[in-house]
Amino acid sequence: MNRHVVTLEELGGRELAQICAYALDAPRDVLQGQGVALVFEQPSLRTRSSSALAVRSLGGWPMFLTDDEIGLDQRESVEDVGRTLAEYYAFCALRVRDHGVFGRLVETVGDRLGVVNLLSRAAHPTQAVADVLTMAEHFTSGRVEDLAGLRVAYVGDVTNVARSLAVALRLLGADVVLGAPDAYQLGEGGPEDPRRIAHGSLRLVGSAREAVAGAHVVYTDSWISMGLEAERGERLEALRDFQVSEDLLAGADPAAVVMHCLPAHRGEEVDPQVLDTPRSLVWRQVAHRVSAMRGALRWMKETS
Ligand code: CP
Ligand code: NVA
Repeated sequence: MNRHVVTLEELGGRELAQICAYALDAPRDVLQGQGVALVFEQPSLRTRSSSALAVRSLGGWPMFLTDDEIGLDQRESVEDVGRTLAEYYAFCALRVRDHGVFGRLVETVGDRLGVVNLLSRAAHPTQAVADVLTMAEHFTSGRVEDLAGLRVAYVGDVTNVARSLAVALRLLGADVVLGAPDAYQLGEGGPEDPRRIAHGSLRLVGSAREAVAGAHVVYTDSWISMGLEAERGERLEALRDFQVSEDLLAGADPAAVVMHCLPAHRGEEVDPQVLDTPRSLVWRQVAHRVSAMRGALRWMKETS
């Protein structure tokens, strides 16, 4: 049976811990000359770079394919793209506009091709793996299993990154607070819903100050995700009280750290200085993207 990494909710806590363990292990040549298709319908710096490095470090070879080249459901159907990729590659990892692409690929070629989600509107699981590795490195000597009880506040637009992060943290027993205006709070249902996780805790609040009170980690993401550029004006207005600033951080735990998946928009979701202070872990998050992807691929390879 082939394994896939589409949402962390589908995987569960034991599998997440296994992926993290593989991420922390020394690279091995488990891909032995196998190809991994890296498909991007949207821009990327970190995900694209870290995925290529991860594939190479496992002995495989990455092949980048862009929307212009493939045209999912434009040039040909998602199903025919999948059938073609399955003839050439062992895995395909995709950044897509429509999360439904993953289900269609898994159904069509999931028995022959391992599928990884490199970001959809619903989830960003490999980012969340890197984030829990980063938190564990800082707080628990690298042990993700010991993150239970960590208090993590996410403030801003509750979307793909926040959903996977909250699922990952709850699976590991951490306590999550999501602070956002009603219109940008956690949507009901859909894939990667942290409400459905039985461990840790989840609280939704409408105030950034309430969200960060006593938090060990304060996390944010862009207010204008890819594809939502037309909503820029209304989003800047609605979210302006949710900027992560030194003033907001004064209400968090005195040793609180700041995290952001990047790209950052200084002056919007973060004040211009916060990410450049010693309490920022963003560059460790960037570094852990490689080990997270390596962990995901190795878990898929070795447990299939
Ligand atoms: N955090 C993240 O996924 O960055 P990219 O969009 O640059 O890949
Ligand atoms: N929420 C952001 C994350 C970018 C890594 C987006 O979807 O654009």
